[in-house]
Amino acid sequence: MLAGFGLTMSTAWAADGATLYQQYCAVCHGENGEGVPGKYPALNGPVGRLATVPEGREFLIATILFGLEGELMQRGIVYNEPMPGYGAALSDEDVATLLNWLKVQWNNARFGAQAPEFTPEEVAKVRALNLTPQGVYELLMKVEAIMHQNRPGPGGGGMGRGAGHGHQGQGQGQGQHNCP
Ligand code: HEC
Repeated sequence: MLAGFGLTMSTAWAADGATLYQQYCAVCHGENGEGVPGKYPALNGPVGRLATVPEGREFLIATILFGLEGELMQRGIVYNEPMPGYGAALSDEDVATLLNWLKVQWNNARFGAQAPEFTPEEVAKVRALNLTPQGVYELLMKVEAIMHQNRPGPGGGGMGRGAGHGHQGQGQGQGQHNCP
């Protein structure tokens, strides 16, 4: 595959997504993105879904670069531990490589396979925002609102974002990320 070959050539020095995940993420989020309930949220599902909307992509990139701090809810469980940022350790290429790998791992692939590829340019734009972990949390709140608005079905937008709990998936309970 030509495109893939070109990518390999230009980033031959860089680690691949699986290696980066092992090195920087697996210790908290688990070998298979399963997380630790109540401590580290799962990444086996949320990432693919988030990768399908621009605001979700911005949030994913920003979380890796700058960290995340604020209370969130995922699959009915509250998480409120800060995540450190890895923007100093990871290049724009690394972050794009990692996310392109992550968005098709496990059940992320269900949505993530159709999401556009992350590029180093896209990462660089987010890096320029120079956010705090609390600022990244505000991005998450924005994403939540948008994903709820877009969700078809009874009630439409507006439901689901209770009292600062980002990840309340009201009812339905499909075990997906924000708003199943
Ligand atoms: C030291 C532990 C730790 C490491 C290492 C870590 N994270 Fe996190 N991560 C967390 C915590 C804790 C949260 C929840 C933060 C909060 O509640 O504000 C989180 C949240 C996230 C979220 C948001 C999940 C959601 O459902 O909104 C994503 C995405 C994420 N991490 C990706 C990564 C990636 C990719 C890496 C590797 C580059 C990584 N994390 C490394 C602890 C970690």
